[in-house]
Amino acid sequence: MNILITGVSRGVGIEICTVLLEQGNNIYGIARTHTDEFKNLEYNYKGKIHFKSFDLSDGDNVNEEVFKDFIGKNPIHGFVNNAATAYDDIISNLNLDRLKNMYNVNVFTPMMLTKYVLRNMLLYKVKGSIVHISSISVHTGYKGLAMYASSKGALEAFSKNTAREWGQLGIRSNIVVPGFMETAMSSTLSEEQKDRIYKRTSLKTVTSIRSVAETVAFLLSDKAESITGQNIHVDNGTI
Ligand SMILES: NC(=O)c1ccc[n+]([C@@H]2O[C@H](COP(=O)([O-])OP(=O)(O)OC[C@H]3O[C@@H](n4cnc5c(N)ncnc54)[C@H](OP(=O)(O)O)[C@@H]3O)[C@@H](O)[C@H]2O)c1
Repeated sequence: MNILITGVSRGVGIEICTVLLEQGNNIYGIARTHTDEFKNLEYNYKGKIHFKSFDLSDGDNVNEEVFKDFIGKNPIHGFVNNAATAYDDIISNLNLDRLKNMYNVNVFTPMMLTKYVLRNMLLYKVKGSIVHISSISVHTGYKGLAMYASSKGALEAFSKNTAREWGQLGIRSNIVVPGFMETAMSSTLSEEQKDRIYKRTSLKTVTSIRSVAETVAFLLSDKAESITGQNIHVDNGTI
């Protein structure tokens, strides 16, 4: 399968690429930075993995740069909307420009990517699978994450409605809802803040990045052929 993935330069994105490559898939990866971690995968899986440097804060050129220049005439069987940026602050400090920038990266450009992914699937008659990465903060609430969580909540609504709109053609859309993971995004949290987050989980520990990536791969595969419009929590049982 050909899979388009955003946010492939580090963290969860690299892990998703790794699992999908191990399963024999071809990767079309997007991020701003061509990291050593990604280059390592390119070295180990020659010809199976492609990189496009693209800034998701600019959704105007999605068709030209991502679909015409990068994907070309290849059918896309799966799309993973993984890239995101977190604008953390309390609501009384809300800055509109920062909010708009986050929404461009987390919501608006992913919606434009979904538009052209759907068009590609229709053109090549592919019963494809779309997976968006949300966040447990949508469902639990955390102090300082209201703006970020709202962008993920928008994706959850978008996915549910994508599933309704395109299910008749066999196209599926699902959400993976991860709990707290150790990545660059969460690196500014103190040990005390992390402990407080772990205490809210049933398993009392950090969410496994591998478990999140394996769940994404499952939802992309035919094993999940009857699953659409769902939110799958991979969060150690957060309450
Ligand atoms: N870490 C957690 O605890 C946690 C918990 C729940 C959900 N999540 C979600 O899991 C997903 C992966 O997060 P992560 O923890 O792996 O974060 P990360 O380590 O910060 O990685 C984010 C990825 O998104 C890309 N990205 C960010 N801004 C971009 C832009 N403007 N244009 C293109 N690419 C951009 C980054 O690449 P470049 O910087 O190279 O562009 C990077 O590859 C995100 O959707 C996040 O919201 C994370």
